[in-house]
Amino acid sequence: MTDDNAPKPRFAPRVFSGIQPSGGLTLGNYLGALKRFVEKQDEGIETIYCLVDMHAITVWQDPAKLRHATREAAAAFIAAGIDPERSVLFNQSQVGAHAELGWVFNCIARLGWMNRMTQFKDKAGKNAEAASLGLYAYPALMAADILLYHATEVPVGDDQKQHVELTRDIAAKFNHDYGVEFFPLPAPVIEGAATRVMSLRDGTKKMSKSDPSDASRINLTDDADAIAQKIRRAKTDPDPLPDAVEGLEGRPEARNLVNIYAALAGSTPAAVLDEFAGQGFGAFKPRLADLAVDRLAPISREMARLMADPAEIDRILARGADRAEAIARPILERTFEIIGMVRSRG
Ligand code: AMP
Ligand code: TRP
Repeated sequence: MTDDNAPKPRFAPRVFSGIQPSGGLTLGNYLGALKRFVEKQDEGIETIYCLVDMHAITVWQDPAKLRHATREAAAAFIAAGIDPERSVLFNQSQVGAHAELGWVFNCIARLGWMNRMTQFKDKAGKNAEAASLGLYAYPALMAADILLYHATEVPVGDDQKQHVELTRDIAAKFNHDYGVEFFPLPAPVIEGAATRVMSLRDGTKKMSKSDPSDASRINLTDDADAIAQKIRRAKTDPDPLPDAVEGLEGRPEARNLVNIYAALAGSTPAAVLDEFAGQGFGAFKPRLADLAVDRLAPISREMARLMADPAEIDRILARGADRAEAIARPILERTFEIIGMVRSRG
């Protein structure tokens, strides 16, 4: 029974997420982010997905590689199941409102908040003095990405939770300082068996496109042979698989491969262990390799097909940017009005 008198929620459900086109996408991006993006789209919620090229340049990017990586990431989204008609798919720099709201949020976020961001500390490393100012301000731009669309849900991998929480803090402080209820407090959506996929060479390190070792990751552009070989050579321990998840304690590489299997199979780590308990990696790895090839090779094939026509990818991004802009501009204009900016150009 529906209650017509029930109060309408102030903000309609809307999903926003982004991925940096700073090199090729990995299995971590796929399981932690992209696969979820497709699921959200298929649930019928309004979904907006962005290739965050402005975030990418917070560390040095070769211009030709950045351009290529942006198109390739767009191809990966489409190959993985993002339909550019049902979702809005675009690259960030084509919608200037992101940078404009990003500046406003630079003036809302506090230095003390930024100093707590663990990703900055990881990325800046020991020589933080040499990091760009943009790398430090990065989470405020991310807050702008999300809030520019009044998004309510943000599917991300585990490592982005802190940034989404900062986004809530920025929204709450803006609303409080200006006495409005203008920005929603978006929720991170961190789901599935592989919200943190680890390196194939070191189960304590996140799988990353910036790891110098290519053997540490599966790239979405890897062909079937490369995928199978990397899984066969993945670091493991000599013990058989346990019969319960608790038995993976202290075995980061084993846990990682079980989580990857579960995520690719759409199952759970417990169910995977039910099936493989007592078996060694000699038996488990070929099964994982088969599953990974089965799920990933069609994506890399479709990406290659799409990349043969970069002009079509550019057209898709242009159309996505137009649609994004149509949502973002009025929200930015309203923000400027709330702040007290004179907007007299009509
Ligand atoms: P990035 O490549 O840093 O732009 O990340 C894009 C999205 O992929 C974010 O939602 C990340 O949390 C997610 N992601 C990146 N690496 C991993 C990983 N190793 N495991 C799970 N999710 C990841
Ligand atoms: N910071 C995210 C990452 O590195 C990428 C990102 C930028 C993002 N803007 C976003 C993710 C907005 C979600 C929503 O993974």
